[in-house]
Amino acid sequence: MEGDLRIDAAGAWKRKVGFSFDGEALTASEGETLAAALHAQGRRTLRIHRDDGGPRGAFCFMGVCQECVVLIDGRQTEACRTLVREGLVVERLR
Ligand code: FES
Repeated sequence: MEGDLRIDAAGAWKRKVGFSFDGEALTASEGETLAAALHAQGRRTLRIHRDDGGPRGAFCFMGVCQECVVLIDGRQTEACRTLVREGLVVERLR
C-alpha cells in the first residue's frame, strides 16, 4: 500500500517531527507512536526474525507481542510504545 494513511496527512493540525528509519528520512506528527508513524507510511517490516529470516512488524500495537522491536540508540525498543521525537534514529532489527 502506498501513500500516507494518516488522517492529518496534510499536516493540518499537529507539528511534524523528523526521524530516520534505516537511514531514510521520514516525518511523524508530534505525539504519534513510532509504530503508527511507520505503519501509516507503509514501512511494515520492522525487524527480521533471527531464526527464519522472515519479516516481522507491529501486530498488537499495545506492547504485548514484541513483533515491533527496533533499535533506537543501540537498544531494543518496542516501536508501539515509543513516541516519535525530533531526530530519532531508528534501525530495523536484523
Ligand atoms: S506491536 Fe506488539 S509489542 Fe508492539
